[in-house]
Amino acid sequence: MRQVLVYDLLFGKGLKCGGRWKVLVLKHRARLQAELARLKVHRKVNCNEDLLAPTEAGNQASPAPQVPRYVRVNTLKTCLDDVVDYFKRQGYSYQGRAARLEELSSLSGKQFLLDPHLPDLLVFPSQTDFHKDRLYVAGHIILQDKASCLPAFLLSPPSGSHVIDACAAPGNKTSHVAAILKNKGQIFAFDLDPKRLATMSTMLVRAGATCCELANQDFLAVDPRDPKYSKVTYILLDPSCSGSGMVNRLPGEETAPSSERLRALAAFQRKALGHALRFPALQRLAYSTCSVQQEENEDVVRDVLQEHGSAFRLVNVLPSWPHRGLATFPAAQCCLRACPAATLTSGFFLSSVPQWEPPCGAGGAEQSQAAEGRGPCAARKKRRKSCCVNQCTPPPF
Ligand SMILES: C[S@@+](CC[C@H](N)C(=O)[O-])C[C@H]1O[C@@H](n2cnc3c(N)ncnc32)[C@H](O)[C@@H]1O
Repeated sequence: MRQVLVYDLLFGKGLKCGGRWKVLVLKHRARLQAELARLKVHRKVNCNEDLLAPTEAGNQASPAPQVPRYVRVNTLKTCLDDVVDYFKRQGYSYQGRAARLEELSSLSGKQFLLDPHLPDLLVFPSQTDFHKDRLYVAGHIILQDKASCLPAFLLSPPSGSHVIDACAAPGNKTSHVAAILKNKGQIFAFDLDPKRLATMSTMLVRAGATCCELANQDFLAVDPRDPKYSKVTYILLDPSCSGSGMVNRLPGEETAPSSERLRALAAFQRKALGHALRFPALQRLAYSTCSVQQEENEDVVRDVLQEHGSAFRLVNVLPSWPHRGLATFPAAQCCLRACPAATLTSGFFLSSVPQWEPPCGAGGAEQSQAAEGRGPCAARKKRRKSCCVNQCTPPPF
């Protein structure tokens, strides 16, 4: 009976009957759905049907596509051409820029490519290890999964911007933002964990990132009206999450997050996203997690945007990206998902929320927020010459 009900819940048309078993199964619904999502990530499949796919090994699912080794060129210390030349001198064979994602999975031996989506991201076969390479030790290259490079890339603050990295440690995304800013501007980086911040500090020195101010502080306690943050136009929010999308977890770590844990994480994520949207000059925000759970991703973004009315909207980033947000609300397709099977990366979620710009002459919700002194117009009105000249800086895609 239990098995039938679990099947109906996960794969069928929902639970119609079942008495006390139904109550029990529904109580564990979030956990069961989370377990199914994790199973799909680990089997590297996108849909339920693919879990049944037969393989050479009989009933076992096909071997997982290996996630390639991604190498981000740290443009604060070097440039793409120099790094490509270095690897060529080490005996690697450069294949140029990949035109399609599939080219990444067919890399072998000492071949390497330039990623088709991200500039400055090189791709090597998955077994390649550069942890002892002198470019890595000197901070010229950063070993960072492609999915984790998306937030800074999509945020893309122009040089000179003021940026908040709300949950920053150990700082891979912070150093990426610093590289995009060319160290010009200011990054306010917050984290609650002093040990992770210490690691981050060392890492930023190695990366040559000099535009960061680190604070061991609860982001939720940072006052958006503090004049110090009055010029913050970009926020990167990568809050604590269940980490259920990480492909390198040890087998012992492979338990799905409990529904209580998911609820607690989502509550924090909602608070942090809502808080971030209160910074008065905000133009663009990137929200990301390395979780594959809908509760921490689409549900958080949907709920917070609903609370904020029409002041913010989701922007349809990277239209060529093959894996989109789960269609749980109309704009969810604007979000990006990542997983080994579909994008050859770890499991990841990203959404980009820009300030909504009214057409010339329109007022609406933005005006009323500005009247409260906390809306985006409060800062923008001062510098606006006409309502058309200060559109958000377009993202790089
Ligand atoms: C997913 S990790 C961030 C990873 C980081 N963005 C990177 O790319 O290296 C989440 C971080 O949020 C921090 N954190 C959790 N709650 C926080 C809070 N209320 N304020 C600031 N940081 C917080 C945790 O200590 C943790 O380091």
